[in-house]
Amino acid sequence: MATSVCPYAMDLTGSDLAGEAALLRRDGPASRVLLPGGVTAWAVTRHDTAKRLLSDPAISKDASLHWPSLKDGRIDDDWPLHHWVTAKNMLSAYGAEHTRLRRLIAGAFTHRRSEALRPQVVQHTAALLESLAQRPGDEPVDLIADFALELPIQVICELFGVSEAERPQLRHGLSESFRTSATAEEVRAAQESLHQVLAELVAAKRLAPADDLASALVWTRETDGARLTEQELVDTLLLMIGAGHETTVNLLGNAIVELLSHPDQLEQVVHGATGWDAVIEETLRARGPAAYVPLRFAVQDIDLGEHVVIRQGDPVLISFAAAGLDPEQHGPDAHEFQVARPNRHDHLAFGHGVHYCPGASLARLEAAVALPALFARFPRMRLARAVQDLEPTPSFITNGFREIPILLDPESAA
Ligand code: HEM
Repeated sequence: MATSVCPYAMDLTGSDLAGEAALLRRDGPASRVLLPGGVTAWAVTRHDTAKRLLSDPAISKDASLHWPSLKDGRIDDDWPLHHWVTAKNMLSAYGAEHTRLRRLIAGAFTHRRSEALRPQVVQHTAALLESLAQRPGDEPVDLIADFALELPIQVICELFGVSEAERPQLRHGLSESFRTSATAEEVRAAQESLHQVLAELVAAKRLAPADDLASALVWTRETDGARLTEQELVDTLLLMIGAGHETTVNLLGNAIVELLSHPDQLEQVVHGATGWDAVIEETLRARGPAAYVPLRFAVQDIDLGEHVVIRQGDPVLISFAAAGLDPEQHGPDAHEFQVARPNRHDHLAFGHGVHYCPGASLARLEAAVALPALFARFPRMRLARAVQDLEPTPSFITNGFREIPILLDPESAA
């Protein structure tokens, strides 16, 4: 059986994630890929294989337990993806440790708890739209910087009690950490800066606890150190605030681009023939905001069939976005955005199994409030640049656009 073929070097700039996934998918249930630093991994781009592996206890996210290269010291902290595999939070934990770390926070993001945030989401959206409305309608505005990025950041920072002053440093550090084209030094500087701002946040909450989730975590640490170490506290804050920053931004941005580049479908949605929930699910399927979330490891040999065997200790990289584009799952037109697609819900954009995204309800809520409000406020808006000229985010982890220049009201100057 073949366990390795010549590895494909992943495009670290994420210039064409969908095209790359289509190429890899043809290889079989998993393909050998090369990551920065000469690390080889198995990339999984098929829906059925991804779903199977995501619910298989023979796959772990804990590098400290299940990745021989890390345990043997062959991976040092200069490796650009080091922070993805060494953070001490639920995303890189396995088994009972994962349950312990997830339980600390997941209760705060149930569907009901998220729904209770609706008034804040509505309020933030209205304020952002009001400020956009002050801009000249016939000059391009960037809907990533001025809308899609702002809303999720305001919501998550408010939940965790992050002050306005701390937000720019957090935002910069997080966006550098997601950028897989960054050098090891850039990543290290970003991580240092993030840890500094989070240490300050923790110190501030210790001194003056407030009614927010960061204070709640600090309180858990203070009252029961066995439940949460200092590093787990900081890394959990980083995960929650980071996940709240990057992915929802891309859900909003990707939906905006899909609707503006499919005016017939936008028309159906605006006139109520198709619901906004369909837009959200079809965007999650066709342009999933999270592509690969590094990294998983085989706890034992896993035979995927078609002569592919993942050996114990091999790293595995599952693409949540590529699964939604699999023609085996969604038919030959899987690459097309179609809001009326009957099986649009059948995607893995929020993951599957024990690591399923606890923020899914919040992300869906933000999109369900923000998108209709944006299109109602600016019914004539259009892209200021052809869709094929929009630059993707420079990363194989996130799947979105760097900026989305829009004319909010192109006829306003006439
Ligand atoms: C559209 C927006 C979002 C998308 C597409 C998304 C996607 C994902 C995916 C694919 C995973 C699974 C990762 C894996 O199995 O390796 C995940 C996990 C996670 N997400 Fe999200 N996410 C989104 C929004 C959010 C928000 C708003 C939050 C925070 C409130 C959040 C917090 C988390 C956390 C903490 C995990 C780790 C769960 C675990 O390991 O048990 N996400 N997300």
